[in-house]
Amino acid sequence: MGPMSISSSRWVSAGDPASIATMLTDQFRVEYGRDSHGVWFAPGRANLNGEHIDFHGGRCLPMALAHGTYVAAAPRTDGVLRLRTLESSLDSGPVEIDADAVTPAADRQQHLSRAEDHDDAHSWTRYVSGVFWALRQIEDPQLRIAAGFGADILISSTLPIGGGLSSSAALECATALACVALGAPLGTDHPEEELTRALTDARRAALAAACMRAEVEVVGAGTGGLDQTTSLRSAEGKLISLDCRDFTLTRVNISFLLRGYRLFAVDTGQPHQLAAAAFGSRRADSEVAMRILSADRLRDTLPARPTLNDVDLVLARFDELAGTADFAGREPLAVRRRLRHALTEMVRSERLHRHFADEARGVDHTAADLGETMTAGHNSMREDAEVSFPLADRIVDAALRRGATGARLIGGGFGGSVLVLAPEASVEQITTTLAHLDAGIRFIEVVPSGPAHAL
Ligand code: GLA
Repeated sequence: MGPMSISSSRWVSAGDPASIATMLTDQFRVEYGRDSHGVWFAPGRANLNGEHIDFHGGRCLPMALAHGTYVAAAPRTDGVLRLRTLESSLDSGPVEIDADAVTPAADRQQHLSRAEDHDDAHSWTRYVSGVFWALRQIEDPQLRIAAGFGADILISSTLPIGGGLSSSAALECATALACVALGAPLGTDHPEEELTRALTDARRAALAAACMRAEVEVVGAGTGGLDQTTSLRSAEGKLISLDCRDFTLTRVNISFLLRGYRLFAVDTGQPHQLAAAAFGSRRADSEVAMRILSADRLRDTLPARPTLNDVDLVLARFDELAGTADFAGREPLAVRRRLRHALTEMVRSERLHRHFADEARGVDHTAADLGETMTAGHNSMREDAEVSFPLADRIVDAALRRGATGARLIGGGFGGSVLVLAPEASVEQITTTLAHLDAGIRFIEVVPSGPAHAL
């Protein structure tokens, strides 16, 4: 075999789950001087369409990855959380937290300035402690953990941190499963095999909602539930078509599409900061548009099967109202662009949802349609949502030039990953070109995978 090409050395492996679990179990013993009671895994996600619209009730088309986050844990009865991550960019040694004293971001900010709150080197630990906080309040008593329940936890991930592939939700969801198994009645009453069955889709949806509360209320990031839902409720070989009005979903077989085509993520190596002001600011712009239109959710301004013509009608109504509207200090044209992104993104999702339901259209036709939609989605992320960045734009352009069927930035933006759909035969030439764009670029195969589980 010849020397490894520049692109082939850049693929990030999902690893072998069993070996990762063994490594984590061994490390756990070294770190805490006791045995862990199990290892739990939750996947990251890619999203074909539906960015920045989950919190507006839009439809998203995500799938879980084979890459994700592993959590080894053992329970404690003193309400203490001891955490350590093997992720070298985050690890600064073991962190100890009083699980009884976790506070929502809004309360913390009464005591700290915003800058102090965000500067905290241990802010990643809030994704874990936030889940403990949320699971103490969850409605279903079978899933609720009691005060005094703490844990020793060791974490390892095969996802790039802040790479737009939902590393934070994966950490939350793996933590949630560990909590339920070790500290909630459902877990203590059911041995492992039975617990998997007892974790029905409805219970997984309740856990996703709890993880979302952890992120919104404790971490303080105004995200919308797409990531947690995908991580806990995905299915192998399928994408989920997720209606974010009520988080109902249909699981759509896409293995037929992957015959002859490949989906992969290009991690730019430029991590985003979700809790940072930019994401919240984009969401705030779009919420001004929502208020001006007197809507509870932007999805409600469009019909069930929306077209671009419907988008124009809403924009025309917005323009009529804009003259006398209160923009709450936000830039009117920017607010209009955020609105246009949300509405066109909703149209794209609904169209794809209908197309995927029709396998009779054939692979090439479906791929061409999906690719075009992805690229249109990227343009909207760049021009209207304004969450893209130069390297992501260069990756999209270069991928398309080298034969990709479609490419787009996914996740919250301001860093993160680009998703590429390409005919199998052009993957090598595309990745070789992309690898030359920046030394930090990595590739991640998108294999539609099953949901969070115990190992
Ligand atoms: C992040 C958030 C999600 C969603 C996306 C953008 O991943 O966690 O809720 O808003 O950004 O679509």
